[in-house]
Amino acid sequence: MCGVIGYVGSKPCARLIFDGLKRLEYRGYDSAGIAVLDTENGPAKIELVKAEGKLIHLEPHLGELPQKATMGMGHTRWATHGAPTARNAHPHLHGDLVIIHNGIIENYRELKEQLMKSGVEFKSDTDTEVVLHQLHAELDRTKDLKAAIMATVKHLRGAYALGIIYAREPGQMYVVKQGSPVVLGAGDGENFFGSDALALLPHTNRAVFLMDGEFARLTADKIEVWDFSGQPLRREPAVLNWSAASADKQGYKHYMLKEIHEQPAVMSSMMSRLLDLKANGFVEKETGLDALDLGRIKNVAIVACGTAHYAGQIGRYMIEEFTRLPANVELASEFRYRNPCIDSSTLVIAVSQSGETADTLACVKHAAAQGCQVMSICNVRFSSIPRASQAVLYMEAGPEVGVASTKAFTAMVLSFYIVALAMGVKRGKVDPGRLEKSFDAMRRLPALVDRAVNAAGVIEEIAHKIYEAQNMLFIGRGPSFPVATEGALKLKEVSYIHAEGYAGGELKHGPIALVDRHMPVVSIAPRDSTYEKMISNIEEVRARQGRIIGVGDIGDERFQSICEHYIPCPQVGDDHLQAILSVIPLQLLAYYAADMRGTDVDQPRNLAKSVTVE
Ligand code: AGP
Repeated sequence: MCGVIGYVGSKPCARLIFDGLKRLEYRGYDSAGIAVLDTENGPAKIELVKAEGKLIHLEPHLGELPQKATMGMGHTRWATHGAPTARNAHPHLHGDLVIIHNGIIENYRELKEQLMKSGVEFKSDTDTEVVLHQLHAELDRTKDLKAAIMATVKHLRGAYALGIIYAREPGQMYVVKQGSPVVLGAGDGENFFGSDALALLPHTNRAVFLMDGEFARLTADKIEVWDFSGQPLRREPAVLNWSAASADKQGYKHYMLKEIHEQPAVMSSMMSRLLDLKANGFVEKETGLDALDLGRIKNVAIVACGTAHYAGQIGRYMIEEFTRLPANVELASEFRYRNPCIDSSTLVIAVSQSGETADTLACVKHAAAQGCQVMSICNVRFSSIPRASQAVLYMEAGPEVGVASTKAFTAMVLSFYIVALAMGVKRGKVDPGRLEKSFDAMRRLPALVDRAVNAAGVIEEIAHKIYEAQNMLFIGRGPSFPVATEGALKLKEVSYIHAEGYAGGELKHGPIALVDRHMPVVSIAPRDSTYEKMISNIEEVRARQGRIIGVGDIGDERFQSICEHYIPCPQVGDDHLQAILSVIPLQLLAYYAADMRGTDVDQPRNLAKSVTVE
C-alpha cells in the first residue's frame, strides 16, 4: 500500500509534496520520490529525486529539485513488485512522461513481455514501469495523453491509482482510479490528489471522490472527470469534517498513544450521535439500519481482516445474543474463495477502519453479486467499502494514523453492540429490562474507559518486566477470547515479540506444551459466565510455572492472588462491553513494550496502515 500525492497551482511545490508524503508515510515507507515539472529553464522538463528507506532519506534531496516548480507529485512505497531500492522507487520516468502508482497490475508480466519484444528496455523490476511504457506506446499512437490513458487502461488488469504528468502538456496532470484509493482535493487556484484525505487536510477539506473506472485532469483552476469510455462526469466536492489538527500527535510521543487516549472521547461522541440516551433509542439514519430490510435477514456473515476481524468475533456474540440470528465471522481473505452459502437472506457486515482493505472490499462485491444485503462499519467517509455497501455505520473515531489499530477496535466493538441491540429490539428479541441494562452500561462506558486508559502507570511497570520476552501467550474465554487474540496482535505488530492468542479452554489441547517459567501468559478473566473455567485454565498454566499477568475485575483478590502481575479493570456491568475495558491494558502493554524495545511504534517494519492489495 503506497502513498501518492500531487499538486498543481501557483505555490512552489517540492516541500509541499514532501510534507504531504509525511502524512501518508503510514501507508508505506520503504522508499520514496518526488517529480516536479520545471518550466523556468526553457522547454518544460521533468526533474525527480528518489531515495531508499523512509522519507528522512529523501528530505536532503529536495534542494536538487527546481524550487520554483508549481506542479508535481510524490510517492512513498510499500514494495509489492521489486525490492525496496531507489531503482524501484517511484516516480518512474520515461522521456517526457512520469508516473506514480499505488496498487498491483496483475497482468504485468505478459504486458512486459510484449513491450520488451517491441524493444522497450526496463530500468526497474516494478509492475508500475510496465504501465509507464504501455502509456508511452499509446501516446506515440494517439499524440494525446487523455486518449492514451483511455487506450492504456484497456490493457491493465488489477488495482491502480495513477498520477501522470507529461512535460509536453504542462500545467495539467492526470489521476486514474481502479481498485486503489485516491481522492482529489479542490483548492482555490490550486488542486491536489492524494491516497486519502488526511494528506490534503492542511490545504483543503473539499474532496472529490473518484469511483473505480474513472480518471481526472487537474489544472490549477479546474478538475474534470471522465469514465474510462471518455464520458464526462460531474463530481461536486464533498466537505470533510476532519481538521488538520485532529490528524496531528498533539503532544503525544506517538500516534498510537494519542489514539489510545482518545478512546473515552470516541465512545462518548459515538453514543451521542448514534443513540437517544434519554429515550433508550437509536438514531436510525446514523446506525445505517434504516437502509436494510431486516425482515429478510435469516443469517449474518461478518467479514474483516486483522484487528477488524477480532472486533467482528466479539460482534458475533452480540448479534447472536440480541437478535437470535445465526452469525459467523470470516477472514475476508478466505471468505469468497470457499464459495460460501450466502444469498438474499444473508446480511454481510464488512468491518474496516480504512474502508480500503482490498480483501474486505472484494468480499463486499462478491456478497452484493450473490444478492446479500451488505452493511459496513467503517471509519473513513466516502471510502471504497462504504461506497459499495447499501448500509453504513460510520464510527467517526477521527483519523487513526498509527498502523496498530486501537481506538478503531473499541469503536468497532461499540458499533457492533449498538447495531446488534437495535436489530434485536426491532426483531422483538430484547425485553425492556435488558434494553435498560444495556443503555445503563453504555452510559457508564466513557468514564470507565477513561479510568482504564489512565491506569497506564501499572502497565508501564509490567511492560518493563516482559519487554525482553521472546514469546508470549494471551488467553481468554467468551468475548475475552477475541480480546486475547487482539492483544497478541497488538504486541507482535508493534514490539515484534512473538505472541499468540488462544481460547482458555484450548491450551490443554496442545499450546500448554509451550508453557514454562520463561513464558508470560496474559490471562483475561472478568467475572462473567466463563470465569470459573478460566481460573481453572490459569491454574493449569501456573502449575507449569507460567508467568501469569492477570487482567480482571477491580477487587478480585482470588484472581489477583494467583498472578505474578495483576491489572485491575473497571466493570461496566455487561459481558460484551467489558471487552472494551479489557483490551485497553493490552493496547498499553504493547505500546510500552514496543517503546522500550525502540521499535518504530507508529510505522512498524513490513506493515502499512491500509492493505489495499489482495
Ligand atoms: C491492526 O492493528 C492492523 N493494522 C491490521 O490488522 C488492520 O486491522 C487490518 O489490516 C484491517 O484494516 P482495516 O480495518 O482498515 O480494514
